[in-house]
Amino acid sequence: MFKNFWYAVEFSDRISETPCLVKAFNQEFAVYRTAAGKVLAMDNRCVHRGAALANGTVNDNCLTCPYHGWKFDSSGKCVDIPANPAGMSIPNRAKVSTYDVVEKYGWIWLFWGDLPIDERPPIPELPHFYNPDLKAISGDFNWSANYERIVENGLDIAHAPFVHAGAFGNPDAPEVAEYELEIQPDGAGTTVMLEPTPPGGIWRFLLGNNKKADRVKTRTAFILPNITVLEVHLSFGMLAIYTSHVPIDAQTTVSKWVSFRSFFKGGWADRDSRKRVINIFEQDRPVVESQRPQQIPFDLGAELHVQSDALPLQYRKMRLELRDRGWFMGKTQAEGKAETDRHDYALTE
Ligand code: FES
Repeated sequence: MFKNFWYAVEFSDRISETPCLVKAFNQEFAVYRTAAGKVLAMDNRCVHRGAALANGTVNDNCLTCPYHGWKFDSSGKCVDIPANPAGMSIPNRAKVSTYDVVEKYGWIWLFWGDLPIDERPPIPELPHFYNPDLKAISGDFNWSANYERIVENGLDIAHAPFVHAGAFGNPDAPEVAEYELEIQPDGAGTTVMLEPTPPGGIWRFLLGNNKKADRVKTRTAFILPNITVLEVHLSFGMLAIYTSHVPIDAQTTVSKWVSFRSFFKGGWADRDSRKRVINIFEQDRPVVESQRPQQIPFDLGAELHVQSDALPLQYRKMRLELRDRGWFMGKTQAEGKAETDRHDYALTE
C-alpha cells in the first residue's frame, strides 16, 4: 500500500448521520455525516477502552462513543466525559485521530498519508462522472487478494480470451498486437482494437445475428495508486467502468466500481449490466486469488514479461518509483516476508 494519496474508500450515498465502519490500509475508520452535511472520518477505536466508535451516535456534530458516552468533536478532541463530575478537566490525550475526507464523483475520498495539503497529489480528473447523459450503476466486489494483483489484472489485455471467453474475450483471437502506451504523471493507459466474443443471448437478439462481432475500440488505464479504467466503444454506444480497488489489508480488497453506459438506460439494462460486471469479476477471482506472491514483487525481474504485458509492466515501474520516494508502507512488506515464495525475498531488497 502506498501512502500520500487520496483513496476513494466508500460511496457517498452510504454515509449518513449514523456512523459507518470503513476498513482500509489495515485500519478502521468511523465515518459519518454531520447535520450540516459535512463528512468526517476518525479512528474507529475510542481512546478510553477501545470500543468501536462506528457503533456510536452523532449528536451536535460530535461522535458519541456507545460504551461510556465520551463525545468527540470534528477535530477528534473529547469534549465531554459524562462520568466526570461537573468542572473536572478532560485529559489532553482524550483525542482520536481524524482524517481529511472529500466528497467527489459520488465517492468519499480519504487522504491516507502525512503530506501537507499543498504537496498532495490531487484527486484525479474522471471525465465520465460529469456527463449527465450517461447512465451509472455501482457496487462492491470483495476479493481475498492483494489490491495490486487486482489492479494489474485490470490492465492485462492478454487474459481476456482465457478468463473471459464467452463474456468479452475471444479464445479464437488471443494475439495482442503491439500497442502504444499513453503515460501520464499519475498513471498510464492504452487504446487497442479487440476482437470480442461473437454476441449471444439478448445481445444477439438486439444486435442482429452476426456470427462475427466487430472489433471494438477499448481503452484500458490505471490511475495511481489503485484505480483502473476500462472504456469500451461498441457500435451502439460507450461503456466505461471505473474501479477503486480499496486495500483492506495485504490479502483483502474491496473493489468499489462505477459503470457508465450511453445506451439502454432502462432498469432491465441496469440489472443486466450489474450482472455482467459481477460476472467478469467472478471470472477473474479464481486466477487472481491464486497468484503468489500475493503482492507484486518490486524486483522487475522476478516475474517474466512479454510484449502484451507493456501496460502492467508500466504499472510496476511506476509503483517502484513510489517505493523509491518512500511512500510504500513497510508493514505489508513485512507481512509479505511470511510467505515462503522466493519472490518475497525480492520484495524486501
Ligand atoms: Fe469509549 Fe469508554 S470506550 S467511552
